[in-house]
Amino acid sequence: MRILSGIQPSGELHIGNYLGAIKNWIKLQNDSKNECWFFVADYHSITENYDPKEKPKEILDLTADLLSLGLDPEKSVIFQQSQIPGHTDLTWIFNTITPLGELERMTQYKDKAASQKQNINVGLFDYPVLMAADILIYKSEAVPVGEDQVQHLELTRETARRFNDRFGKVFPEPKPLLTETPRIMSLIDPTKKMSKSGGEKSYIAISDSPETIQEKIKTAVSDTGGGKDKRGGYNLLEIFNAFAETKEEKSDYSNYKRYHEEGTLKYAEFKPALANLIANYFADYRKKRAELSGNPDYVKKVLADGAQKASAVAAKTLQEVKQKLGLII
Ligand code: ADP
Ligand code: TRP
Repeated sequence: MRILSGIQPSGELHIGNYLGAIKNWIKLQNDSKNECWFFVADYHSITENYDPKEKPKEILDLTADLLSLGLDPEKSVIFQQSQIPGHTDLTWIFNTITPLGELERMTQYKDKAASQKQNINVGLFDYPVLMAADILIYKSEAVPVGEDQVQHLELTRETARRFNDRFGKVFPEPKPLLTETPRIMSLIDPTKKMSKSGGEKSYIAISDSPETIQEKIKTAVSDTGGGKDKRGGYNLLEIFNAFAETKEEKSDYSNYKRYHEEGTLKYAEFKPALANLIANYFADYRKKRAELSGNPDYVKKVLADGAQKASAVAAKTLQEVKQKLGLII
């Protein structure tokens, strides 16, 4: 299966990104039946407020993070979106077959427009069309993402269908691949998804030190309303379950879950255990990441090699598309 996914270089990677998407990228990559493409969505990231001086570092840091978590350039094509002009070429073509009304319905657009009222740019509106182009230019069949991206994937399928119906079959209709934890909630407001935009206390960054993780988990919202609203507790338990790997950790999880149901869970015991579990899980990552920090040339080389492979495939699809549209003279 041809797998593709992307992530924006903006802010720190958090455990929601990891559990909802990146963990799955690595699993899929390590199955030799798949052909995997992963990229840094820098063009998407400039639809939000940003500092151009910080952007190169954000792109390199994110790539180094992905490599340290286990993405392997020997197994996957890893590249930077803006280095492949075909993505934006195909976006323009898709723009001409996308009804305005469908983009107006996108919830991420509505949320982001509300949170950056001074910067409701056309790119923010067109974001899902660029995403459809990212996916379809490689004729990808499956896209591992978190739940918040499912609506964009529906638009992608719709775009593929519309194109194929009008011009003849070129594209597959890619499906989303979700993990068992497609929506991790914020640590300080369990009614909202964990997100960079929620502020540092709302998430655990994968690069947080063990001390920071302890602090953040300590202040995380658990059960509220005298134990009536258990959403915070469920979220913490879900995180524990997702990081539990050994038999012992899994059996600890079953016990904590039972205590929580019975209303006897001692957070003074559970929370430090959860923080420990997360900190240990990322110990190997922290080591590899420290090594890569001193080697930006290697990271740049990975992206340059990836761009070469991606460009060839993207150019081929674009040619096919232009032919169908009657643009080749
Ligand atoms: P953020 O909302 O923090 O800016 P991104 O939009 O960069 O996150 O998301 C990158 C990937 O991580 C996407 O596949 C997205 O669906 C996934 N993701 C983001 N937040 C969560 C979450 N809270 N739970 C599960 N997956 C998530
Ligand atoms: N919009 C995605 C996010 O915010 C990032 C993204 C851009 C993406 N293009 C993509 C994900 C193509 C999957 C496929 O997380």
